[in-house]
Amino acid sequence: MANNRTSGMLTTFSESVTGRASISAMQMDDFFTDRFDKDLERYAQGIFVAGSMGNWSMLISFFSAFMIAVPTAFVMLAYHEEIDTALLGLALTYLLSLPYFLQQVAFILNIFLGNLTSLERLLQYTDKALPQEPEWFKESDPEASSWPTKGEIRFTQVTLRYQSSLPPALDNLDLVLKGGQKTGVIGRTGAGKSTVMSCLFRLVDPVSGTVHIDGKNICEIGLHTLREAMRIIPQHPLLMSGTVRNNLDPFKCREDQELLVVLAKVGLDSELLDTEIGQGASALSSGERQLLTFARVLLSDAKIICMDEPTSNIDAKTDEFVQKVVREEFVGRTVITIAHRLQSVIDYDNIAVMQKGKLAEFGSPMELLSDQNSHFSSMLSSLGAETASKLKIAASRAHQAHKVGITPMKSIDLSSPSSTMEIQPADLVDAKIDSKQEQL
Ligand SMILES: Nc1ncnc2c1ncn2[C@@H]1O[C@H](COP(=O)(O)OP(=O)(O)OP(=O)(O)O)[C@@H](O)[C@H]1O
Ligand SMILES: [Mg+2]
Repeated sequence: MANNRTSGMLTTFSESVTGRASISAMQMDDFFTDRFDKDLERYAQGIFVAGSMGNWSMLISFFSAFMIAVPTAFVMLAYHEEIDTALLGLALTYLLSLPYFLQQVAFILNIFLGNLTSLERLLQYTDKALPQEPEWFKESDPEASSWPTKGEIRFTQVTLRYQSSLPPALDNLDLVLKGGQKTGVIGRTGAGKSTVMSCLFRLVDPVSGTVHIDGKNICEIGLHTLREAMRIIPQHPLLMSGTVRNNLDPFKCREDQELLVVLAKVGLDSELLDTEIGQGASALSSGERQLLTFARVLLSDAKIICMDEPTSNIDAKTDEFVQKVVREEFVGRTVITIAHRLQSVIDYDNIAVMQKGKLAEFGSPMELLSDQNSHFSSMLSSLGAETASKLKIAASRAHQAHKVGITPMKSIDLSSPSSTMEIQPADLVDAKIDSKQEQL
């Protein structure tokens, strides 16, 4: 009991130490002091009860041993003529030390039971009552080389809830993302954009409906096999303490040259490779952390790439640079990008507009823009007339490029008023050459 109560006290203590700046700024000192006092009191009660029980059990064992030893000693002394003197002496010696030994046994038993708390805690975590993760591998899992080949993703009537008491985060979602196409997912905050990815990676399984990748139901595939087939740049980059090298290539299966190339591609300094980045990569800025996770994805040849606001923490110029890398490096792969800057996805094959867990609109940017009342059109208009017209030109240029079967490679520069985004014949020729080289 006392050991269990220590955790509350330690939690409050560590929260107060790590969050002291916020506590002080929000003037929550009294709240945390009260909470710590209560935790301390509960701990003191626990310690008092545990100590008293230990002392009580020692007293009882000492007393019961005394009650056995003393009468037995008197009985033996009374019949000393019938008992061998040597045996009598030996028996009396042991009898008189019995209370002491029993008291010691009680003391050790108390300490042993106290230390069993850790085991108890471990058993709680391994308890069958805790929801278990689905299987990591299944015998029926496809080979990594044979699946996915196209990267087509099909959501059919998917409803997903984080908890049964909560409203659905995805509500009857029907969405087909063709293999090799790029899709931008946009929508208001809380619309369910990140949940689409959580569902794809099976962080949470749908309550109803199915998700198929290249015809295979992802719920029938082992978690590891499924996640190996895709790569994600999450909204909050996950990095480990260690060097940049460890983070880029944790299994040490890449050559230095490959690591340096991807670092250069995302615009990070090659000297960073052996730099210690501290716990949670605290030595890097948020933008650098995002670029590093981006570099990690570039190292992989997964057919499906998911990006959850990959450039939310980086400036517009670096975003532009990263988008250029996406266009060049992810040709032929299925890319899903959750974007907060419309210019990041304006030249994508498709845009999915999410609203309250439902798919509100889906189509190419030009299709959505052709309807003046569409959500996408109104989002674009809200950016201001000049930006909207530039993005419209960019969408039209991308549309023409897609029609002739090439991937637009030019990034959209909204900062320069002189930049023209109309497609030039030279662009088409260059891009066609690029595309032919890609096929070869
Ligand atoms: N772990 C969770 N537990 C419970 N509810 C959650 C959890 N994660 C998200 N939700 C809820 O699910 C809904 C969709 O959340 P989601 O994170 O997908 O939104 P989003 O469109 O990505 O928003 P944002 O643009 O702010 O990232 C929200 O109502 C949110 O409160
Ligand atoms: Mg999100």
